[in-house]
Amino acid sequence: MFPTGFVWGAATSAYQIEGGLTADGRGTSIWDSFCRQEGRIVGGDHAETAIDHYNRYRDDVKLMADLGLTAYRFSVSWPRIQPDGSGAYNAKGLDFYKRLVDELLSYGIDPWLTLYHWDLPQALEDAGGWPARDTSKRFADFAATVHAELADRVRNWSTVNEPWCSAFLGYASGEHAPGRREPASALRAAHHLNLAHGLAVQAMRAQNAGSQIGGCVNLYPVTPATASEADQDAARRIDGLQNRFFLDALLKGAYPEDVLADLSHISDMSFIQDGDLAAIGAPLDMLLVNYYSRFTVSGAPGGAVSAAAAPTDSGSPWIGSEHVGFVNAGRPVTAMGWEVDDSGLYETLRRLADDYPRVPLYISENGAAYDDVFGEDGTVHDPDRVAYIEAHLRTCHAAIESGVPLQGYFAWSLMDNFEWAWGYGKRFGLVYVDYETQARTMKSSALWYADTIRHGGLLGRAQ
Ligand code: FCB
Repeated sequence: MFPTGFVWGAATSAYQIEGGLTADGRGTSIWDSFCRQEGRIVGGDHAETAIDHYNRYRDDVKLMADLGLTAYRFSVSWPRIQPDGSGAYNAKGLDFYKRLVDELLSYGIDPWLTLYHWDLPQALEDAGGWPARDTSKRFADFAATVHAELADRVRNWSTVNEPWCSAFLGYASGEHAPGRREPASALRAAHHLNLAHGLAVQAMRAQNAGSQIGGCVNLYPVTPATASEADQDAARRIDGLQNRFFLDALLKGAYPEDVLADLSHISDMSFIQDGDLAAIGAPLDMLLVNYYSRFTVSGAPGGAVSAAAAPTDSGSPWIGSEHVGFVNAGRPVTAMGWEVDDSGLYETLRRLADDYPRVPLYISENGAAYDDVFGEDGTVHDPDRVAYIEAHLRTCHAAIESGVPLQGYFAWSLMDNFEWAWGYGKRFGLVYVDYETQARTMKSSALWYADTIRHGGLLGRAQ
């Protein structure tokens, strides 16, 4: 059994589900432009309709209520609310989120709002994107406005979803929008995403609305493939860039010295200005953690690269550590090629509790893609996903028992959706979506999750 008050949620993001890319005055985002470029998205998929949540949000909220969710994590689309990322706001865009929030509240579902889940207004990218410092300030203004409009009914706020992805997949490997491959710019982007977080927290706090405010990071335990010095150094490096660069900044107000040293040939970091880290490291009410898998790495030349590589031709996101190989450690993998390892979640949570100032933790994403099949009898049987979520929830429970301040869990994702560079080929949903008809069907995992929530804990081992 989980503690009373444990938050049982599911998560989505605006770009992956809404569609309606030109509806009601929405501006263009970097993902709109990216999807139009040939070869960027598997199968040439795009999100013009996505799963039509913009029109179907009421039905989708009803589904959440049927599942018994106590909370729903979603993101707002910046270009829908402020088409050019600066200047005028679009009342119709804001109204959509007000209607969504009111719908959630009418069912007693707690809205958890993420301000940025990767859909930067194209106009801001044209002005330099995240490598430009001004983008952080634009984001803080945007955050303040959305907060002023919605804080009366939304209590839980998070700033930037997975800054690692925005910075290093967006500006170093080019696998994500805007698709640039500029290591030095990626580093500037990483800092400015952190700064955007810090300035947004400041701006929201100043409104004294009693909000709970957090940042959101994607964490991976990193294991050296062998005990060799080269492999241990590889693990230190990847852990540094993936985890500590963001955790130390947000929770300790400092960048790790070893990571700055690893990157010193790429940049002199002169873009870090006095006061930035104080803003970035200001106390948070909570930390949102997205967890999917573990990395096993090798620093030996010619080390094998695992299947988790990008779907499209791309450079390395691991700037300064391009020599590191990602090794398949032999665990079962999901349809993404990501190794299933719930012990990695335990390690991650323990590390947060042991090495960082104590802050309430939430798993804000966790889940798996599998090749789901819509059965002839109209059901979708996904035992692998049930097993994945069950194992990770069991781990959450063990972490809580061991004293980790973990207070909630959001499954990724509520529904199948547009999985970025992978398009619609990877299904993460608890709910199956027929992309032709937009029909929604609860998979076995959704029914299982609903039972779990009703019970307030795990009923027994999944078969
Ligand atoms: C995370 C993203 C989310 C989704 C999952 C599978 O990195 O935040 O949008 O793509 O991975």
